[in-house]
Amino acid sequence: MRKKIVAGNWKMNKTLPEAQLLLSEIDKYLQANSPKCEVIAGIPFVYLENAKAQHKNFKIFSEDISEHKSGAYTGEVSAEMLTSLHVDGSIIGHSERRQYHKETDEQIGAKVKIALENGLTPMFCNGEVLEERKAGKHFEVVKRQTEVALFNLSAEEISKVVIAYEPVWAIGTGETATPEQAQEIHAYIRSLIADKYGKEVADSVSILYGGSVKPSNAKEIFSKPDVDGGLIGGASLNIEDFSALIKTYS
Ligand code: G3H
Repeated sequence: MRKKIVAGNWKMNKTLPEAQLLLSEIDKYLQANSPKCEVIAGIPFVYLENAKAQHKNFKIFSEDISEHKSGAYTGEVSAEMLTSLHVDGSIIGHSERRQYHKETDEQIGAKVKIALENGLTPMFCNGEVLEERKAGKHFEVVKRQTEVALFNLSAEEISKVVIAYEPVWAIGTGETATPEQAQEIHAYIRSLIADKYGKEVADSVSILYGGSVKPSNAKEIFSKPDVDGGLIGGASLNIEDFSALIKTYS
């Protein structure tokens, strides 16, 4: 059975004391409770080392990774560096990276590949913008994003990838996809993987939903058969909401 996952993406939020407090609160919650899901905190690069050294009850992911191995790439952080901090994985291809940093499907594919080569779990994000949804192009867009970034991987490699479908129009807007919309596109993504790699591989890949997930709507979304948890932005920034989301899988 594939993993259920509740992952936080802090984005560019929190100072060091705030980050330490929230990480400790997550740890404390998980020590006292045993949810039936994996918990991931996707946190800014600068806090990764401390977080990995201090917390063992949940996984720690970076929010990005360089597509390059090493060298003259000022400001970039390599897969090797993350592995040397024992970081567990990386969020890759988030729509904010695509939108503000002009990341292409090809670059995102290179990031997924280098993460895997270095033993990191890639959490690959896809999803359409509002205009594409309105034009009925969401299947086409997600297909392209997924095929270009992932379909040069081997079956063994793609089994290690976590996918996060995040319709861009639902991110931070308070507007969420309906559980039916999420299920429809998650099932479609899984069918693309099944067509290329077979059903067994497709059934092993966790596909998370992201976009204005909060305690009040998570249960219904997460109950859909092809939704394996969530990638949470705003509601991952405080322990009350984040623990309530984790509790969905208790
Ligand atoms: O990575 C997380 C997503 O961008 C969702 O963010 O929960 O604040 O809408 P949000």
